[in-house]
Amino acid sequence: MRLERSMLFVPASRWTMIEKAAASAADAVCLDLEDSVPPEEKAAARANAVRAFRELDFGRRVRMLRINGLDTPFAYRDLIDTVEPAGEGIDLVMLPKAGAASDVAFVDTLLTQIEMHRGFANRIGIEAQIETAAGFVFARQIAAASDRLEALIFGPGDYSASMQMPSANIGEPDDHDELYPGHRWHAAMHMIVACARVNGLRAIDGPFAAFKDATAFERSCRVARAMGFDGKQCIHPGQLAAANTIFAPAAEEVARAREVVEAYERAAAEGRGAASLNGKMIDAANIRMARVVLERHARCEEKGR
Ligand code: COA
Ligand code: MG
Repeated sequence: MRLERSMLFVPASRWTMIEKAAASAADAVCLDLEDSVPPEEKAAARANAVRAFRELDFGRRVRMLRINGLDTPFAYRDLIDTVEPAGEGIDLVMLPKAGAASDVAFVDTLLTQIEMHRGFANRIGIEAQIETAAGFVFARQIAAASDRLEALIFGPGDYSASMQMPSANIGEPDDHDELYPGHRWHAAMHMIVACARVNGLRAIDGPFAAFKDATAFERSCRVARAMGFDGKQCIHPGQLAAANTIFAPAAEEVARAREVVEAYERAAAEGRGAASLNGKMIDAANIRMARVVLERHARCEEKGR
């Protein structure tokens, strides 16, 4: 399981920004050929991506490429022109606006053909963005569509557009949120995490556009973490440190999980299933909750070394 607390997007048309991203604090770097690149720059962006995946040292960062949607004239050429020459430097391809299992299957088939043709030793994974009404409705089928699939990603901007939900900014709460209890993306986000867990995938939350508002970004990370997400897409290097911190269990959380495991093991040794810890009941479910924290902590520690 890769660690993807933070995924930094960078327009593939911007070479100096790609260089900065490759040396940033991000767990994953995604070179974007889609919405941050205007149509007339798609071809040049592909060439930049090829150069980056072949020449730049990304260290231990996950190397990703976002192709255009399958409803555009760009997607097949994005894969052929970028993966053919540079596939050995690509870990994952991100498919935007996944709306059906067949969308993922198309990318899988094309990747298989390219890998066979080029004789790559690596096998490129897929991450699917769930950001349309169809993506939400068919999330279960999408999540099970390919054994290359590694993550489902929520896309709040496109999802709002597809659902015709009024929304001024990508990923930000606005005055519409006061009209709706909880938050408007809850159902889609919850569905994404559930479909991801059923299939052993990661769940990644979408970007937050107001990159100068650190407090609101941190809140957005905490909401996603609370809902079970593994990490968050970032659009600016200034967002990376907060995402890396919030999607790793805090020291108190880890200490508490260890305490629960010890108390439960003591109780079990005495033949009891439920026990009392600091005035609260703990049982086998607490052990499972504690293990989630400890396993995540171990992955973050491993990355730190
Ligand atoms: N990756 C790498 N470097 C980035 C970056 C990114 N996503 N965003 C900003 N930087 C760099 C800038 O190049 C600048 O570097 P410099 O100081 O050496 O010149 C530095 O960070 C500070 O940038 P800043 O001036 O605060 O922002 P900006 O006005 O240059 O850019 C955005 C703001 C939003 C246009 C830019 O962050 C961006 O393009 N983000 C990614 C957009 C994207 O990929 N969207 C698609 C998915 S939603
Ligand atoms: Mg989108």
